Amino acid sequence: MSDPAESDVVRFKRLAAERAVDSIQPGMVVGLGSGSTSALVVRRLAALRGEGRLTDVVGVPTSVETEQLARALGVPLTTLEEHPVLDLTLDGADEVDPELRLIKGGGGALMREKIVAQASRRVLIVVDAGKLSPRLGTKWPVPVEVLPFGWRSQALFLEQLGARITRREGRDGALFRTDQGNLILDCAFGPIERPEELASRLEARAGIVAHGLFIGLTSELVVAGPGGVEHRRPT
Ligand code: A5P
Repeated sequence: MSDPAESDVVRFKRLAAERAVDSIQPGMVVGLGSGSTSALVVRRLAALRGEGRLTDVVGVPTSVETEQLARALGVPLTTLEEHPVLDLTLDGADEVDPELRLIKGGGGALMREKIVAQASRRVLIVVDAGKLSPRLGTKWPVPVEVLPFGWRSQALFLEQLGARITRREGRDGALFRTDQGNLILDCAFGPIERPEELASRLEARAGIVAHGLFIGLTSELVVAGPGGVEHRRPT
């Protein structure tokens, strides 16, 4: 039942999460993304388990936060060591372009999210319609995870690529650390003309351990907005 105090965005995220969970089949090994939409996916999965459905599904969490939520709700977990190939991953995104390329990492879990996505046969991205964008970088900076060692050199390199850099901080004002203990540089590039080219340049740089451009990884998109819920596949 919907909560009258629920905002439209949260309602759209919830509706998208509920539709996305319909793609999970009994016995699947499922990647569990990070962020608020993924949390709704985990909650939905837990609710179905409570009804005796999908009880043999196991999840691989993409962050400590998701792991803690899944454990608290009794969703069984496994690891990539035990299951190096996953059937399906459900994850959110910060920005989605018409080719289903993504910016991810608003929650800082981009490294593990990308590892899990690349290990998955299918990646289903779950968003509210506000995440749709004509061109990546229009709405959101690209998070870049860097080793603390030499991070200022990476910041200069990123500035030379055209980014305005913000070193991410936590809510308490302290430096944000990823689950791997690294730093995040949020890189505002503005609308990115050639995301593939930018991704290659980032991947060639030592000290950059991950970036939030997810290209060629989305198999499907579930998007919910004022017009309803839609399940899209790349054209
Ligand atoms: C986490 O690191 C991110 O990639 C999230 O998937 C992304 O930020 C979407 O977050 P919300 O679902 O909270 O909007």
